[in-house]
Amino acid sequence: MILDTFKLTDRVALVTGASQGLGEAIAVAFAEAGADVVLASRNLAKLEAVASRITALGRTAVPVQMDVSLRADHDRAVAAALDRWGRIDILVNDAGTNVRVPAEDFREDDWDVILNTNLKGTFFLTQLVGRQMIAQRRGKIINIASLTSITGLPNLAAYTASKGGIASLTRMLAIEWAKHGITVNAICPGYIKTPLTQAVLDSPRGAYIESRVPIGRWGVPDDIAGTAVFLASGASDFMTGQLVVVDGGWMAG
Ligand SMILES: NC(=O)c1ccc[n+]([C@@H]2O[C@H](COP(=O)([O-])OP(=O)(O)OC[C@H]3O[C@@H](n4cnc5c(N)ncnc54)[C@H](OP(=O)(O)O)[C@@H]3O)[C@@H](O)[C@H]2O)c1
Repeated sequence: MILDTFKLTDRVALVTGASQGLGEAIAVAFAEAGADVVLASRNLAKLEAVASRITALGRTAVPVQMDVSLRADHDRAVAAALDRWGRIDILVNDAGTNVRVPAEDFREDDWDVILNTNLKGTFFLTQLVGRQMIAQRRGKIINIASLTSITGLPNLAAYTASKGGIASLTRMLAIEWAKHGITVNAICPGYIKTPLTQAVLDSPRGAYIESRVPIGRWGVPDDIAGTAVFLASGASDFMTGQLVVVDGGWMAG
């Protein structure tokens, strides 16, 4: 039955950035679809609160403190899944950060934090999980990219570079790992209300964005969750290397 292919029953997912925002919504949606989830970010207390939401759904959640920009931290998150279940079926690279500054003023230390978190962290965690998925001969990798992976938006020099890199890595890894039964896709969210975008939402640009989105509103994290479940499920098995835009129509206009 077609709806059964969307289920994630007993799949094991590792979701970075799961303490809030899009990562939290995706992790909870995975549990609603039947998965158990390793929740990773730097803030263990917040992860434990998300884990409680998942436990209440009857699924297992394992919170793991991890700074994704530190390669040495990745082992802990992967071990949390392998020690308990012996496999990782789904990886979501959601952890990300941003600084909004005109290009002419952009600081080197901000550049390094953003690139190390968004791009280097994504690649090296994916490399580690990918080795496991290659051994399993199956896996679903979902990168959280951005509209800036595709188009220009102001004051986002490092963020744009990182998300453009994620789009390129998504296509490259899709090609390289298809033979191992691994699909690699990315979601490009439009403007979604989260702590990351609160300052923009509260600025004059917030109302402009709302007026510019054809669907007429900012997104909420749950607007991204359905696409994530689809890309994690068997329903997307013939799909790889794609950037899926979920933006209320912004890019169509
Ligand atoms: N909101 C939007 O409109 C939008 C649009 C396009 C793309 N995105 C992307 O979606 C993803 C999630 O964004 P969001 O809006 O949900 O932002 P958010 O609410 O600020 O959440 C960011 C998440 O990333 C984690 N994180 C940040 N730095 C980390 C690090 N060094 N190590 C581990 N975890 C780290 C944070 O956890 P801790 O603080 O607990 O570590 C948090 O869970 C990001 O990749 C972002 O670029 C968002």
